Amino acid sequence: VTLTYAQSLDSSLALAPGVRTALSGQETKAMTHYLRSVHDAILVGAGTAVADDPGLNCRLEEAIGDPDRQPRPVVLDPNGRWDRQNSECLKQAKAGKGKEPWILDKKTVGDRQPPGIWPELGDSATIIPWQTVFRELYERGIRSVMVEGGGVVINSLLSEQNIALVDSVIITIAPTWLGQGGVVVSPPRSAETNATAKLTETRWQQFGEDVVLCGRVQQSDRL
Ligand SMILES: NC(=O)c1ccc[n+]([C@@H]2O[C@H](COP(=O)([O-])OP(=O)(O)OC[C@H]3O[C@@H](n4cnc5c(N)ncnc54)[C@H](OP(=O)(O)O)[C@@H]3O)[C@@H](O)[C@H]2O)c1
Repeated sequence: VTLTYAQSLDSSLALAPGVRTALSGQETKAMTHYLRSVHDAILVGAGTAVADDPGLNCRLEEAIGDPDRQPRPVVLDPNGRWDRQNSECLKQAKAGKGKEPWILDKKTVGDRQPPGIWPELGDSATIIPWQTVFRELYERGIRSVMVEGGGVVINSLLSEQNIALVDSVIITIAPTWLGQGGVVVSPPRSAETNATAKLTETRWQQFGEDVVLCGRVQQSDRL
């Protein structure tokens, strides 16, 4: 599980919820497309799918039209908010430039999971536990997944309960401030340790005007 996103200097992913905001430069965009080509799936939350209508394919010249280098787009959409039929994602797939997107919700995931998961959460629960999300993808043949956002998804995966499920984090930091009111990466703090996640084996690399931070989630935080 690779968590990857682009943020401003003040930790914002976007100017406001639902607002598509360009942050990455050409070089880091190219890096994102390379990363897409080496993962089996890309996952985003419904908020991102609705706000950005992303293509979620790999647009590197050598990967266009090569299904082996195209990741499977996956949208977590428990309330059916995303218009899959008219999405850019499906358009790309129909043009042979990507794979058809999967939607994960209680119905598509529920039947395949061991009994006991949903009753624990209550009948009205729509949020799927992350372990269940990744297990579902594994059962469908996905061996690597790049989680691209947005805020709710990232903050939830960086929280104490879920961080052990993440292997690596790759963050593009753009040299700009977006100011208050943005979609901010700031996961809930653990009451016990006064912290949340920490990265190790970090590398910082400049790409054009941006800097990219890569690291592995510290072992002690892992399952
Ligand atoms: N800079 C970047 O790298 C980057 C990347 C991606 C997105 N963005 C920006 O981020 C913003 C969108 O972020 P966001 O926080 O509003 O939305 P989001 O994180 O994309 O999606 C959140 C929604 O996804 C569903 N969801 C999340 N976790 C789930 C789970 N475990 N089980 C079931 N459903 C789950 C829920 O849908 P329901 O609400 O229907 O329950 C949840 O409210 C946009 O402005 C976008 O442009 C920026």
